[in-house]
Amino acid sequence: MADQPKAITVAIDGPAGAGKSTVAKRVAKALGLKMLDTGAMYRCAALLAARNGLGAQDGDAVAEHLKASQIQFEEGDPIRVILNGEEVTGAIRTPEMSDLASALSAHPPIRALLAEQQKQIVAQGGYVLEGRDTTRVVAPHAEVKVYLPASIEERAERRWKELHAKGMPVEIDELLRQIAERDARDMNRADSPLRRVPDALVVETFGLTPEEVAQRIIERARAGASQLA
Ligand code: DC
Repeated sequence: MADQPKAITVAIDGPAGAGKSTVAKRVAKALGLKMLDTGAMYRCAALLAARNGLGAQDGDAVAEHLKASQIQFEEGDPIRVILNGEEVTGAIRTPEMSDLASALSAHPPIRALLAEQQKQIVAQGGYVLEGRDTTRVVAPHAEVKVYLPASIEERAERRWKELHAKGMPVEIDELLRQIAERDARDMNRADSPLRRVPDALVVETFGLTPEEVAQRIIERARAGASQLA
């Protein structure tokens, strides 16, 4: 059917707090695709580190723990993240885990391991995946590639609202500092830094609702699918 897209892959990259998860969720729902939050896997690496007394400098040891671990996703809203049989959906979302995940994600052994698992998950298509390297490393074959830029101020405000809604109040200045620091790390690391690929659809999120951002991506996906049909 003309209005039924094939099982395509949509890859969305962007900096921390650009609203990728919310947008990806809407796109996935509208197009009947599954969703893969690649950042959740780096957050699981951070949780494994913290629980084993390891830190940002212990990339090799954390990679060993990751090799012996299983990360699973279960349907739900939000999608449930299961690490070695335990639900960690909330535990991986603290500011400490954001920071540690960003630091550990610069370690090539951790990236290699998680990128390989992510490639296997999306190999058959039918996924909306989001992260930092999904358009360049995990799914360079994606039919739709998207880059979501957003100013630091806009992202800090969004994160502030999210954390407050979850009963986790933080100072906006502290969020601005954390986001700037994560940006610097995620964009400047040697292995798979966050970069916009030349063929990405760039959707400036400023002034747009997540619904509007999602709608642009959905339109691009439908246009692509009708060309393929
Ligand atoms: O998307 P997120 O904020 O949940 O990701 C947490 C950290 O994981 C992020 O600061 C950098 C890292 N990450 C990555 O390096 N590559 C990805 N594809 C996704 C996340």
